[in-house]
Amino acid sequence: MTQVVLSEIHGKVGLIRINRPEALNALNDAVVDGIAAAIDAFEADDHIGCIVLTGNEKAFAAGADIGFMKDFDYMHAYRTDFITRNWERIKTARKPVIAAVAGFALGGGCEMAMMCDMIFAADTARFGQPEIRLGTLPGAGGTQRLPRAVGKAKAMDLCLTARMMDAQEAEKAGLVARIVPADQLLDVTLDAARTIASFSLPAVMMIKESINRAFESSLNEGLLFERRAFHAAFAMEDQKEGMAAFMEKRKPAFKNR
Ligand code: HXC
Repeated sequence: MTQVVLSEIHGKVGLIRINRPEALNALNDAVVDGIAAAIDAFEADDHIGCIVLTGNEKAFAAGADIGFMKDFDYMHAYRTDFITRNWERIKTARKPVIAAVAGFALGGGCEMAMMCDMIFAADTARFGQPEIRLGTLPGAGGTQRLPRAVGKAKAMDLCLTARMMDAQEAEKAGLVARIVPADQLLDVTLDAARTIASFSLPAVMMIKESINRAFESSLNEGLLFERRAFHAAFAMEDQKEGMAAFMEKRKPAFKNR
C-alpha cells in the first residue's frame, strides 16, 4: 500500500509530504492521522527545530476527500469529532510549521495551510474555499482564519463565489509570506526552515506563541503576554549566549536552554 504521508529529516528540519497524487492530495483520515503522527514525532525529537508541510507540484491538497465524507451524518461527524480529533494537531504544534504550497490549496487544503504558521507559495499556487459548490461550508477554520488573514471583503468573496485566488493575489492580501518560482519552492522553504532551526528553540517557540496571542486576545492582553515572555527569556542560557556572542563579535552557540 502506498504511504499517503511521507516524512523526511533534513538536518534540523522535519519535512512532511502529503502523498495522494491520484486524488490531488485530498485529505481523508489516513492522511490527516499520518500528518498528526509525523508532527508528534518531530515535536518529540530534540534535534528538530522547524517543520515543513508540503504536497506535490499539482496540489498541496484539493480539499477534504469528498468521497470519504459524503455519506457522513450528523451523529457520525459529532461522535468521531470530525476535523477536531486529528486536524487540530497542526494548531497545537509548538515548533513552527511552514506550509509550502504549489498548485491547488482548496477547501480543507487551504484551511490546513492556514493552520500552519506561515505559507510559502509557488507561483503556481491557487487558493480557494469552494465548499459552497458542494452545498456545505468551510469547516476546518476557513470562515475564521481567512478573514483574519485577508480581511472580510475578500473572505466573503472567496467563500461565497468559490473563485480561486492566485499566488500574487494571495500574497498581496496577506495570506502568503513569500512567493517562490515553483521549481525552487522546496529549497527556499527548507532554507527558511533551516534558518529558524538554527536559532534558540525556546526563543522561537516563545515568538510563535506570542504572535499567535495576537489573534486570540485583546491588544493589552497580548502585550502583557509578550512582555512576560520577554522577561522570562532573561532566564534562558541562550539569551545570555546570544547577547554575549554579539558583544564578542562571534557566532552564538545555542543550547536550547
Ligand atoms: C476527493 C478529489 C478531490 C477531493 C480532486 N479529487 N479533488 N477527490 N476529494 N476534494 C480527485 C478527482 O475526483 C479526480 O479523481 C482526481 O482527483 C483529479 O481531479 P480532476 O477533477 O480530474 O482534476 P482537474 O480537472 O484538474 O480539476 C482540479 C480541481 C477539481 C479544480 C481541483 O478536482 C476540484 O474541483 N476538486 C474539488 C475541490 C473542492 O471542492 N474542494 C473542497 C472539498 S470540501 P479521478 O478518480 O476522477 O481521477 C472540503 C471541506 C472542508 O474541503 C471542510 C473541513 C475539512
